[in-house]
Amino acid sequence: MLTWDDYNNEEVLEAAPPPVVTKAVEKVVEEVVAPEPEAAPVAANNEGVAADAEAAAAMANVHRAKAALEELDVAPGLEELEMGAARVSVDEKAMINCRADLNQLVPFKYDWAWQKYIDGCANHWMPQEINMTADVATWRSSDGLSEDERRIVMRSLGYFSTADSLVANNLVLALYRLITNPECRQYLLRQAFEEAIHTHAYQYCIESLGMDEGEVFNMYREVPSVAAKAAWSLSHTHSLSDPNFRTGTPESDQELLRNLIGFYCVTEGIFFYCGFTQILSMGRRNKMTGVAEQFQYILRDESMHLNFGIDVINQIKLENPGLWTPEFQQEAIQMILEGTEIEIAYARDTMPRGVLGMNASMMEEYLQFICNRRLTQIGLPEQFPGAQNPFPWMSEIMDLRKEKNFFETRVIEYQTGGALSWD
Ligand SMILES: [Fe+2]
Ligand SMILES: [Fe+2]
Repeated sequence: MLTWDDYNNEEVLEAAPPPVVTKAVEKVVEEVVAPEPEAAPVAANNEGVAADAEAAAAMANVHRAKAALEELDVAPGLEELEMGAARVSVDEKAMINCRADLNQLVPFKYDWAWQKYIDGCANHWMPQEINMTADVATWRSSDGLSEDERRIVMRSLGYFSTADSLVANNLVLALYRLITNPECRQYLLRQAFEEAIHTHAYQYCIESLGMDEGEVFNMYREVPSVAAKAAWSLSHTHSLSDPNFRTGTPESDQELLRNLIGFYCVTEGIFFYCGFTQILSMGRRNKMTGVAEQFQYILRDESMHLNFGIDVINQIKLENPGLWTPEFQQEAIQMILEGTEIEIAYARDTMPRGVLGMNASMMEEYLQFICNRRLTQIGLPEQFPGAQNPFPWMSEIMDLRKEKNFFETRVIEYQTGGALSWD
């Protein structure tokens, strides 16, 4: 890695290739800078010629930039700003298809989105802050974990190591462009960074434990119960990733809603829950506590992502009631039920028998309970009446403020070490 010390290291500087003066640059210098051919200084040697040519090329570049600015016509830009971006009033702001200037963050229309951005920043964490020493010892020992427990760790890291990249790609390549509200975009940027941190966390676990990276990162293409989840999520981002996709018709607006339901309610709202519950249950039993702590931080972030997505979906429904037709509601119910079934199949695959005080049928009931929650959160009827939560401790873990030792274990160097000083 290059460090600042290298700038004072003569060996490094000497090893650097000499500046290259191309024929093209020499030609530019001749055309733009040299006043008269006969007035050009005659260089004593090749080194002097190269240095003169470099200086002349730099001067020519500055000349060209100044000339371009003199010719810059600001009228078209101003006209565009005046037409589409006068001072924005709250009433002009809208979640989708907004015509007001998206560069003006305030005045806020959706205070909840800004608040979630603030809360997300306050919850900042990094994977390296978590001590993985005990996990490495457990993972390496022959009797630290049972085969069933090892499978759970492998499958969880296998699914999540790529799932968060799918979510991040959907945010950045599909969703960001189509959500036309600056405070929501501000949160989307925060969420996108959190997804990068999550992928980092999984990579950090995989590296610390010395797992076969190829096996783990390819599980989403090679293990059927993991692949089914990834394939389902991907099928709901295809049309929006097309750079030519635009909202503005009932059909395209509904397609955006499908994406939001697919990623927030199903991918982040259902597909994460079996793996999270298994790993956190492991941590509660004092096994793989470093991995479990990573998952705990991630779960806290994810519950905020989910709540943000629910708020966005409900706001779009409120502003565009025509989209929420009975047919579309039926489609949304089916999407959430499909996601639940896929996650139940994953639970069966990862828990062929009882493990960590739970089994596949308990997880099935938990996922039906979660499914009911996702449906009612966006105004749809429960599909599994009476489903109970067999893991009430999960709700407590999601609210980390209740965890007594949470902040005691944190290293918060970036809050102090990162401060700028002008001395
Ligand atoms: Fe994530
Ligand atoms: Fe997320």
